[in-house]
Amino acid sequence: VTGSISFAQKSNTTAIDVASLSVILEKNKHYYKEGVVADYIPELGKVNPAAIAFAIVDSNGKLISVGDRDHKFTMQSVSKIIALMLAVMENGEKSVFEKIGYYGTDRPFNHFANLETMGKPLNPMMNAGAILTTSMISGQEDKPFIKILEMIRYITNNPSITYSQAVYQSEKETGHRNRGMFYLIKNTGAITGSEDQLNNYFRQCSIELTTEDLAKIGYFFANECRRYDGDNRYENKSLAKLILSQMLIAGMYEFSGEYARTVGLPSKSGVGGGIVVSVPHCMGIGVFSPALDNHGNSLAGYHMILDLANEYGLSIF
Ligand code: DON
Repeated sequence: VTGSISFAQKSNTTAIDVASLSVILEKNKHYYKEGVVADYIPELGKVNPAAIAFAIVDSNGKLISVGDRDHKFTMQSVSKIIALMLAVMENGEKSVFEKIGYYGTDRPFNHFANLETMGKPLNPMMNAGAILTTSMISGQEDKPFIKILEMIRYITNNPSITYSQAVYQSEKETGHRNRGMFYLIKNTGAITGSEDQLNNYFRQCSIELTTEDLAKIGYFFANECRRYDGDNRYENKSLAKLILSQMLIAGMYEFSGEYARTVGLPSKSGVGGGIVVSVPHCMGIGVFSPALDNHGNSLAGYHMILDLANEYGLSIF
């Protein structure tokens, strides 16, 4: 029983086709000129700033995409929702959220001052929270990372997904701030393992996928952890609700409030330029354009989502 709002959305969204996505993409692609490609991880700075793609998986599980649909990019912070999923599946929500808050944020993704004041990360979408979440997935060395990768391969039904060694090395060599957070959390006792656990966070950020893969991930969490092709082996309504709520309050970092007002959909961005969006009980959206706004969210990506949400009345509010 999903209520009348989502029923209206479902009947409406089946009208979205290649032509409607193309119009929105063409209208908004210029925004890349106003954004900045992330280069604080040197390997990320090598991307073509004009690359752009837009994909949806509609309420029937049908995939539609336009633009550079085969272009692969690193998922970066989008991986945090998969790490949260696995940490909660293995440890239970209560145990995970004893160590991490449910708080929203007015701070950038790499903020960690509250580790000192509250003694725990604000939420699992910020780097500090995500580093801790990944450390809660069981297994030695890179096993927790392999579980994240396998889950992404499952959700996208795309066994060819892997990670970029070059981006991983680059993240590892330049991630001093993340390393600092790892040791601050270790100092509280919430992390007990070795730096392998931090390396798994760097690896998950370096997983490469396409905009179509993002749309499938969006569909999965929109539909109680059921895959776009109907496979339901991980179906879990409560877990999907938890993840969607975290995406809504913190998925776009300190822009989340304004984003909730303008778009009104649970979403998660990554500095690689991807954003995954879930339209609850309905469909998934994936966008990619590597030039970012000053919060670390794809600028053209945001505008494509905004137009689609407005045109089809997708806001949950
Ligand atoms: O930890 C980092 O700095 C990056 N690998 C991921 C951060 C990120 O994607 C923030 N996003 N918008």
